[in-house]
Amino acid sequence: MAKNRQLKLGAVLHGVGSSMSAWRHPDIPSDASINWPRYLEQAQLAEQGKFDFIFIADGLTISEKSIPHFLNRFEPLTLLSSLGAVTSRIGLVGTLSTSYSEPFTVARQFASLDHISGGRAGWNVVTSPGEATAANFNKGEHPDHSKRYRLAAEYLEVAKGLWDSWEDDAFVRDKESGVFFDPDKMHRLNHKGEFFSVEGPLNVARSKQGRPIVFQAGSSEPGRDLAARTADAVFTGHETIEEAQAFYADVKRRAAEYGRSPDEILIFPGIGPIVGATDEEAERRYEEIASLASVEDALLYLGRFFDHHDFSAYPLDEPFPDIGDLGTNSFRSTTDRIKQKAKENGWTLRQVALRTMTPKGPFVGTPEKVADRLAQWFEGSAADGFIVGEAVPGGFADFVKYVVPLLQARGLYRSEYEQDTLRGNLGLPFPVNRYAAPVAVRS
Ligand SMILES: Cc1cc2nc3c(=O)[nH]c(=O)nc-3n(C[C@H](O)[C@H](O)[C@H](O)COP(=O)(O)O)c2cc1C
Repeated sequence: MAKNRQLKLGAVLHGVGSSMSAWRHPDIPSDASINWPRYLEQAQLAEQGKFDFIFIADGLTISEKSIPHFLNRFEPLTLLSSLGAVTSRIGLVGTLSTSYSEPFTVARQFASLDHISGGRAGWNVVTSPGEATAANFNKGEHPDHSKRYRLAAEYLEVAKGLWDSWEDDAFVRDKESGVFFDPDKMHRLNHKGEFFSVEGPLNVARSKQGRPIVFQAGSSEPGRDLAARTADAVFTGHETIEEAQAFYADVKRRAAEYGRSPDEILIFPGIGPIVGATDEEAERRYEEIASLASVEDALLYLGRFFDHHDFSAYPLDEPFPDIGDLGTNSFRSTTDRIKQKAKENGWTLRQVALRTMTPKGPFVGTPEKVADRLAQWFEGSAADGFIVGEAVPGGFADFVKYVVPLLQARGLYRSEYEQDTLRGNLGLPFPVNRYAAPVAVRS
């Protein structure tokens, strides 16, 4: 009998936090973004909680207006490689931009991480929303939204092609005969496309999980399309179950249209759970962190999604200003959502800025309430799993201590890892090498 579907969990390790002001909380080490022992502690905590993976986000441009975590943090692959060496089960997922890197280098880096960790690597493919990124690379103008996604699609095609350079049994390594590899099982990609010209082969073999898991985190139309076509998993963000359900159905439908099984693409909404012994205590913890936010900081935070637009020029307590198309070339799905919600609810600029910087979300309350909501989203086709951020100091440890056991008791979540690869734990199929001879079917 098929095993019950179980929910999957990822943990965002985000140093001093996702807002402008969280670092000021007395319980957050102010150097947390660059504090390796703290990352290790959190990775070990995630592993104790049987999480599928940890996730290290990234960006490639900063300014005086950036959130503190962005100003001084580790490069994801370097950090994940070090954590891979001292953990044994947890998946290691990091962001890398397809707009400002080369597919050969990146395919090689993730393949190396995949080998070092014994098949636990994952790549969050992003296209870099920030216009200013271009100033850090020799590429001229920042590509526009649609070009970034066309580039990403070809980039992934190349990366996946390179990951198939070697068939699984290509390395013979027979000391007796002196045969190190079978040349028939080494393949050149010979890719020539609109953006990339890559011959191959890659100088790393396939890993225990075949190739790294591909995550995608853009939720705009082209983002969803790219995910449906090529990703194993999707990061997204929704405030209500209805929005999450609509997104979930849309991405699964698109995947089916590309001839894929909807079960082969997992949807992970990002959440910031806050638990307390009572609902009131959880609310108090939220207020404690929200009260650290000044409106000036919140305006800066909001501006980032709109390519650092200066919102301080508008009246604070009047309806959110009409800013036309601003944001569509940046974090498009996020900016579309902010504009739409502001209009629907008649929010002022102050309300929009504060809500954006310290969102509350539906996962605040007693552990039972949070577990109920997670179950509701999971069972109601809004999520296959969740990517858990630390909304308040200690929030992640509380989640592992109080919410995880409730999910386990309900049979919704594992008590032990099923496998030792990220792919195996996520329950995703092993990708057969494109060059491998089809397995003979016995009649
Ligand atoms: C959980 C989650 C994690 C994300 N992590 C990153 C990240 O590390 N770096 C980044 O540039 N964007 C990140 N994003 C944003 C998206 O990748 C994307 O850049 C943004 O939504 C704009 O794409 P879109 O126009 O397709 O929505 C993340 C989004 C979500 C929901």
